[in-house]
Amino acid sequence: MTEQKANRSWTAIILAAGKGTRMASPLPKVLHPVAGKPMVLSVMHACQQAGVTNLRLVAGHGLNLVKAVVEPTGCQVHVQAQQLGTADAVKSAQPDSIEGDVIILNGDHPLIEASDIAHFMKEFRAQKLDLAVITVELKNPKSFGRIIRQHGSLAAIVEAKDASSETLKIKEVNTGIYLARADVLSEFLPKIGNNNANKEFYLTDIISVALENQLKVAAIKGNKKVAMGVNNQQELAFASRMVYRRKAKQLMESGVLMIDPTSVFIEDSVQVSPGAVIYPNVFLRGRTKIGSFTSVEPGSYIVDSEIGESVQIKAYTYLEKTQIHRNASVGPFARLRPETEIGEEAHVGNFVEMKKTKFGKKSKAGHLSYLGDAEIGEQVNIGCGTITCNYAVDKKKYKTKIGDRAFIGSDSQFIAPVTVGSDAVVGSGSTITKDVPDRALAVARGKQFIKEDYNKG
Ligand code: UD1
Ligand code: CA
Repeated sequence: MTEQKANRSWTAIILAAGKGTRMASPLPKVLHPVAGKPMVLSVMHACQQAGVTNLRLVAGHGLNLVKAVVEPTGCQVHVQAQQLGTADAVKSAQPDSIEGDVIILNGDHPLIEASDIAHFMKEFRAQKLDLAVITVELKNPKSFGRIIRQHGSLAAIVEAKDASSETLKIKEVNTGIYLARADVLSEFLPKIGNNNANKEFYLTDIISVALENQLKVAAIKGNKKVAMGVNNQQELAFASRMVYRRKAKQLMESGVLMIDPTSVFIEDSVQVSPGAVIYPNVFLRGRTKIGSFTSVEPGSYIVDSEIGESVQIKAYTYLEKTQIHRNASVGPFARLRPETEIGEEAHVGNFVEMKKTKFGKKSKAGHLSYLGDAEIGEQVNIGCGTITCNYAVDKKKYKTKIGDRAFIGSDSQFIAPVTVGSDAVVGSGSTITKDVPDRALAVARGKQFIKEDYNKG
């Protein structure tokens, strides 16, 4: 074997061809989301964050769906046509075409973190190993492969199905994570047979084969969570809970306030600044950022949105791709749809919906309004029940512009495209079809008439 060089590159081979029968779901197992993210992506991101530049995924069941999710992240997909066992799966990833070192992981072990992977890679190089397996001790090792040691050193892995009752008592188990020189895989994988209870080609057998050939092989101890696989819906829910708890703990350690950290659902990708307050039953998803001293009240669901400092997100608010500037308040029961921007100190109250709307500094829309494709200036008052009629019979969308300090009376409609000038006033109940000049009053409603003694009943 050639000498190890410190700058050899790392390739990850992620095994994900299995069917996941026990998930009982039409979705390929590794695409099931753990805390909002397909579990295979969690494994891939952990690898990338640990500095693994090349990713290869072995797929089989649900190939096209799996490809659609992983290929955009620069991962090569290798097909294992028949699931003949874990050794055959690694072979499908063509280790002969890899230079450097390889880390093999399971696509259905989503709790692994970059720090775990970085630790394994460091140990592997520090001990100048040719092959390593990551092991953990479990109180109840169930169907995990058992680690056989002789005089303290790793000797073999025995699958539970093939183990004697004595061997089954061993608590140290195989996590299914391995590190190896690529040339070790190329040389020894073909030497593995399928003479076992399952008639499968077991990757675990590479340990004894390599030892027989005097290679330097060792077990590296890992954190228990890296062994946690997802095989059914209960384990999926449990894994999500672990990730949400982990995130909540990290955020609290950094100074985020939580009334009940067991009932917040904050995805790993979300940033929350110290001093923010997150109430129970809040979902924060995707690229969401929450500023300091901002509070997010119960039942709010926020996706890919940027919320500044000291903002109040009141209960049951739904935000998607929205930007909210400092000191604004939104909700309760508000819905802000993509490309909406709420200015500093603005107020958006209950049952207000906005879409593609820029809502200026200190403007207010307190109740029951729809503003779509609109540009609302600063210090504008939008009366209750205001509607921008942005969608025309030609099926196109048109804009409504309302200037600074305009005062819009309740129950007004704006038939876009239409512009209302600065300091203009629109009388209640108006249907505005023509532009309103600066400082003008526009009233567009039926005149009130009175018929005396009308009701003779
Ligand atoms: C494997 C190990 C076992 C270890 C356990 C940890 C073997 C023989 N056994 O057992 O020692 O304790 O993982 O979880 O390796 N896969 C393929 N193609 C195949 C077979 C499997 O891609 O032909 C993939 C699966 O999708 C899965 C992973 O490999 O992601 C592990 O396979 P699985 O059948 O779950 O192995 P275990 O029986 O759990
Ligand atoms: Ca498994």
